[in-house]
Amino acid sequence: MNSFLHFKFLPLSLRMVYTMTLLVLGTGYLFAMIQVFEVHAGRDGNPSLSANDLRIAYSGQSGGTRLESALHGPMKSMLPNEERQVILDWINKDDASKESYDARVKPIMDTRCIMCHSAAANPHLPSLTSHDEVSKLIVKDEGMSIATLVRVSHIHLFGITFIFFIVSLIFAHSYLRPVWIKCVVIIVPFLTILMDIASWYLTKMWPAFAWMVIGSGALMGLSFAIQWFTSMYQMWFYKPPKELLECGGQLPIMGDGSIKCQPYRE
Ligand code: HEC
Repeated sequence: MNSFLHFKFLPLSLRMVYTMTLLVLGTGYLFAMIQVFEVHAGRDGNPSLSANDLRIAYSGQSGGTRLESALHGPMKSMLPNEERQVILDWINKDDASKESYDARVKPIMDTRCIMCHSAAANPHLPSLTSHDEVSKLIVKDEGMSIATLVRVSHIHLFGITFIFFIVSLIFAHSYLRPVWIKCVVIIVPFLTILMDIASWYLTKMWPAFAWMVIGSGALMGLSFAIQWFTSMYQMWFYKPPKELLECGGQLPIMGDGSIKCQPYRE
């Protein structure tokens, strides 16, 4: 029979197990949020966490290699425009090949750059004396690799499912009507785990999906909060409705006005 037992009818010891588990998992959730912030905030140069930061994290910085940013930024005044264009063309049109480097780019580097950018001149600056060295500055930032995403996916799928399994199992003892709302609160977090993982891959391909990463994360947090607070509140402070109390935590069926106690089906 599908009988439902409210927190109030569980032994004190079991409620202690639940309470302590919720406290520690809740703390864990807070740290997880700090971690997300620490890892992603500020990637776009703005210290807060935004969809842009996630876009960069998953799909990479668009239009920028280190060399290009330097040529458009701090190194702009080090060479005339035509020469800068030669270097940019070499990166974007000649696939940064060694032949065209030696033919066209090396002479520019030698006259404009290596007085500062060589191991002898300044070991703290990237050396620009050879094709190999310069190539290191034009690696495209493609964001997280598929290998990384797969590794993080399986950890998240297993780990977060455990967390929500435990929290929803506890939450299932709370009294929430209509029953479908209770079911939604239980189902949603599991769906958000899948949505969250899917959104990483989608964001890697189509950066606009960064909003889905944020949306599923927010929904997951909201579900966790609802389950957490409802459980804690009903475990310790809530007064269950009279008929629930009279029937030992199992809801009666009231047909002709009398209270018949029988296991309440959900
Ligand atoms: C007068 C010395 C000097 C010359 C000449 C010079 N640079 Fe620089 N470069 C610096 C210094 C100092 C920095 C680091 C500080 C900064 O970023 O402003 C730097 C930074 C860079 C960086 C950024 C490295 C990073 O960490 O991302 C690149 C790339 C670069 N330079 C390329 C060039 C190129 C290409 C040329 C020639 C067209 C050039 N530089 C000419 C002094 C120089």
